Amino acid sequence: MSTEKYKKQAAEAALEYVEDGDIVGVGTGSTVNFFIDALAGTNKRIAGAVSSSEASTQRLQSRGIELMQLNSTGDLPVYIDGADEATRHRHLIKGGGGALTREKIIAGASRRFVCIADESKLVGALGAFPLPVEVIPFARSFVARQMVRLGGQPAWREGFVTDNGNEIIDVHHLEISEPGKMEQKINNIPGVVSVGIFALRPADVLLIAGADGVREI
Ligand code: A5P
Repeated sequence: MSTEKYKKQAAEAALEYVEDGDIVGVGTGSTVNFFIDALAGTNKRIAGAVSSSEASTQRLQSRGIELMQLNSTGDLPVYIDGADEATRHRHLIKGGGGALTREKIIAGASRRFVCIADESKLVGALGAFPLPVEVIPFARSFVARQMVRLGGQPAWREGFVTDNGNEIIDVHHLEISEPGKMEQKINNIPGVVSVGIFALRPADVLLIAGADGVREI
């Protein structure tokens, strides 16, 4: 119950980073859903939003927020998104909801990436949460074997198709002591569309909500 309360608090704190006239990048997930609701309820007059998933698009539309396409906006001033794990270095694991590829694209296209999360997401090191890897269906087994070579235990997210028409492998028990290097290694495997490590382009601001309020890291 308090987890939901903290998600909402982190989401509402992110409004501070949104200015009138901004085109706002919007991530995916239950924490971002609170942000979408807060954005719809605020008196800030944003120019519109770029969405990272069909799910967020539907919610934005239902709240009357204008949608824009990244291909016609240019870079964005700010991107707000959640995470499955976050470290004090603002490295993240994302993709629990399967939206990692568009999330990574919007993060790359944004000047400021504000990550919002409840305190349960803050970890000492990444990797307890199974690492999502989006793959082209043709390459699924090949990529899975490469993940075993890297020391992980891959599991196919069976029956799940991403918004891009691809599949997801969740990699368990992978040691991610150097997130940037691991991100690069996995990026280099043919057939990988994107990996849920966000270290080469980390969050710029981490808003963590817990019993002591919202902390900015
Ligand atoms: C979606 O693919 C993810 O990257 C989400 O940002 C992440 O799973 C966080 O989701 P919650 O806010 O629901 O925990």
